[in-house]
Amino acid sequence: MSSTREAVEAFWVAGRRATGDDAFDVTNSWDGRVVATVSVPTDAQVEEAVAAAHAVTAEFAATPAHVRAAALDHVAKRLAERTEELARLITAENGKPVKWARGEVGRAVSVFRWAAEEARRFNGGEAQRLDTDAGGTGRLALTRRFPRGVVLGIAPFNFPLNLVAHKVAPAIAVGAPIIVKPAPATPLSALVLGEILAETDLPAGSWSVLTVPNDKMPALVQDERLPVISFTGSDKVGFQIQADVPHKHCTLELGGNAAAVVLADWSSEEDLEWAATRIATFANYQAGQSCISVQRVIADAAVYDRLVEKVVARTEAQVTGDPSDAATDVGPLVSVAAAERVAAWVDDAVAKGAKLVTGGVRDGANYAPTILADLPADAVLATEEVFGPVLTLHKVDGTDEAFAAVNDSKFGLQTGVFTHDLRTAFRAHRELEVGGVVVGDAPSYRADQMPYGGVKASGVGREGVAYAMEDYTYERVLVLTGLEL
Ligand code: SIN
Repeated sequence: MSSTREAVEAFWVAGRRATGDDAFDVTNSWDGRVVATVSVPTDAQVEEAVAAAHAVTAEFAATPAHVRAAALDHVAKRLAERTEELARLITAENGKPVKWARGEVGRAVSVFRWAAEEARRFNGGEAQRLDTDAGGTGRLALTRRFPRGVVLGIAPFNFPLNLVAHKVAPAIAVGAPIIVKPAPATPLSALVLGEILAETDLPAGSWSVLTVPNDKMPALVQDERLPVISFTGSDKVGFQIQADVPHKHCTLELGGNAAAVVLADWSSEEDLEWAATRIATFANYQAGQSCISVQRVIADAAVYDRLVEKVVARTEAQVTGDPSDAATDVGPLVSVAAAERVAAWVDDAVAKGAKLVTGGVRDGANYAPTILADLPADAVLATEEVFGPVLTLHKVDGTDEAFAAVNDSKFGLQTGVFTHDLRTAFRAHRELEVGGVVVGDAPSYRADQMPYGGVKASGVGREGVAYAMEDYTYERVLVLTGLEL
């Protein structure tokens, strides 16, 4: 099956296919070939999409739940039917190994399926009697949730389908129109999602997929007809958006430098094999381009040497190469520039005294799975998100020191804690300043119905279907008077 699209790719304005008068190429970072040429909306077409979304707000909010749920079920079904085509497309536009791309499509199916189910049960309403004080005699409060308005969904390149799904599916589930801006490097799977959305009966204007370049984003961010912004990307851009429009409702899914903590009780051969396998896999999956890929291993001195030996062996066993080959574990980064930046950060760390344990080699957009020890505090890698296949090793003495090391970060997205001790698991849940703690596995585990998001520089708000639905809506109270309760 070819993953090269032939004609100029159209975008979607208010549910209709359209082309503009400019275009850009999407290239495959593995072999440099042009995968597709994508049309860019004109300013007038962007205006048409925004105006249509704004105009349909009340109608869409009033759409019966069964209509929204049926559309979401349809999308889940069609994504599942088109899995292989979509996986190949994700691999072509992003460089993600096809085995991970297949997993991404499966997750997107799950997101739409969950959204269909949540749409059916959302907003049943909550009743509160008010006659608890004399002034409230005969009164009842009913609370329901209503959409805040049109959502502007700004998606990243690293999960070009599933992180778009996480913005679109909850919006449809609550009846909020959405304008999606896919990442310019990877718009193709979002455009196929548009093809599938166009098969549904959702009202015109309730969704658009606009392949606008990043320099057109500020105008959309500022547009008062788009009161909700759901952004996934870097902390720098995310917090700039929030600063620019403090009166808007912003959900920011930003970066992380996730830690895998291995404690002294996780010490059998089997334990360490499992931890090492999971750490090596999830430091390098998608070439480290996930906000919850493992960047730091924080291991107790009691198990450090044995663990590190296994992590190095498992890392060196990762199969690198052509992402379209089903056997490949680690493919290229999204671009040569991304790999150059990772190389520069590793070189910076080594120049400042870090020890290169393995890897450290760049070839075009490819960067070899890399491990560093003795990372100096002034290395860029010590404080920033690498977003590449690079792992740093940290030896600690005991749980106090391990948890302090996790929290010694500007980020707080997810942490993995390898322990058998239930009390330590609860302590981790209590003390770690992150959005999620995964016990017995890497921090990279995510089920799409779970709340997902961070604290500190990792962001604001939560995704995960039902949580995003809450986020896209607000409570409105109806007080009924003169009742016999
Ligand atoms: C992200 O990179 O934030 C998303 C991770 C995931 O969905 O697995």
